[in-house]
Amino acid sequence: MDKDSVIIFDTTLRDGEQSAGAGLTVDEKLIIAKQLESLGVDVIEAGFAVSSTGDFNAVSLIAETVKNCKVASLARVVEKDIDKAAQALEKAVDPRIHTFVSSSAIHMEHQMRKDPEEIIEMAVKAVSRAKKYVDDVEFSPMDATRTDMDFLITLLEETINAGATTINIPDTVGYSVSKEFGESIKLIMNNVKNIDGIIVSVHCHNDLGLAVSNSLSAVENGARQIEGCINGLGERAGNAALEEVIMGLEVRKDHFNLKTRVNTSEIGPTSRMVSNIFGFPMQANKAIVGQNAFRHSSGIHQDAFLKDKSTFEIMEPETVGWRGEALVLGKLSGRAGLKSRLKDLGYDFDEDQLNSLFIKFKDLADSKKEVTDMDLESIILEHSRSDKNKQFLTLGNIEVQCGNKKEPRALIELIDENGKNIKTESSGTGPVDAVCKAIDKVISFVSKLTEFSVNSVTEGIDALGEVTIRVENEKGRTFTGIGSDSDIVVASAKAYLNAINRQVQMMNEGSESPGSGAGR
Ligand code: KIV
Ligand code: ZN
Repeated sequence: MDKDSVIIFDTTLRDGEQSAGAGLTVDEKLIIAKQLESLGVDVIEAGFAVSSTGDFNAVSLIAETVKNCKVASLARVVEKDIDKAAQALEKAVDPRIHTFVSSSAIHMEHQMRKDPEEIIEMAVKAVSRAKKYVDDVEFSPMDATRTDMDFLITLLEETINAGATTINIPDTVGYSVSKEFGESIKLIMNNVKNIDGIIVSVHCHNDLGLAVSNSLSAVENGARQIEGCINGLGERAGNAALEEVIMGLEVRKDHFNLKTRVNTSEIGPTSRMVSNIFGFPMQANKAIVGQNAFRHSSGIHQDAFLKDKSTFEIMEPETVGWRGEALVLGKLSGRAGLKSRLKDLGYDFDEDQLNSLFIKFKDLADSKKEVTDMDLESIILEHSRSDKNKQFLTLGNIEVQCGNKKEPRALIELIDENGKNIKTESSGTGPVDAVCKAIDKVISFVSKLTEFSVNSVTEGIDALGEVTIRVENEKGRTFTGIGSDSDIVVASAKAYLNAINRQVQMMNEGSESPGSGAGR
């Protein structure tokens, strides 16, 4: 990497999966990893291999599949973590082990119960062990921004001596402010004796809403790797939103004079995919990827914008893959039309997949005059979330009655994994409650609905409604389900079944804890 480039390190599948309420199946992680590869990030942190069988399998599969990015696994500074990470990365073209240990006095005393000398010894041992497996080793002193600077410098020098090629400075609790953080990076660059040839990275959390600003301040002071997540996912308030970091560097090239390898037109599709698979709908005014990011509302703005776009637009929406509501297909469109449009959107499906998408498309086109690119993406994502080979239960017919004088009641036909039809019915406090209660009668485990939200994929009375549901099992673990339909009660039934199917799938995969956290 030359000095004029910034390495983009994506940790959506690791720190992002630590977002409360998140949890992905191995298949879903692979889908996102492939999209991150198309986006052109440099490093994909695919997981924390030792944390669960599901994470180990996800790292292995991504390592085997992704060819154009480095693939990293996180590891604590303990032997079994390093060995598992190395094992999961065996098939990677370009593997990286990322090992970390707490370095602040607060963490060393209360979390690690170790003194500074022990921490250095553990870190050095871990880096040396990782180095036996791979050339590319990243070391992170966790809670670096609350760490004594002299100790931090010694720890960094020792781990570089042991073989670390990237040193990452995490603002783990999002405590730093931008000028101060930039100055710390400069201090590290100027005082760590063996820093030459080493990449300095930053990993900023967003507790004060400063993660992107802090990351950009760091590159102004010499950092050349930024870690973050798509849509700013991550622990608590999340990490630096990568789409904002990337477009900050791109739009203000005049200021930063730095480049990335990213294909910015893939930002929109990546963001929508991550939002949909994680089940975290995007806030409308979110920078770069929100619904309103390129909408001009006030008359004065609209007037000026129509005269000259540059009056109120600092980047063209197309540069970030904004597809808006472009009309693509309708009721009379055929399979060939759908296939060709999907190809334009970058999807290449085999005949089987195309057939099942075509049925969904036709159903939608019957109830909605205009099927947009966003509608198609929603159908595709729903399709990819519900692999028919891994369905414990699928929805057959559904009839729901409700109204201000009638007791809400749902009558549902479900099909189990052996193709057997099961009829179930229930009343409830509302139509969605009746649907969930009817489905609950068929399953033998606890699935308590904790969150329910509806969003429309596009505008208009006939818009596709996208329902996101979160359920909790008896251990308090959360599973997300998403379903879309032009009828929101049907979408709710699909979402609830999706949450249940994913719960069964993740249990089978051994993804012991959705959001397998670094701190566990
Ligand atoms: O926030 C943090 O400190 C981390 C480390 C594991 C890099 O996520
Ligand atoms: Zn983090």
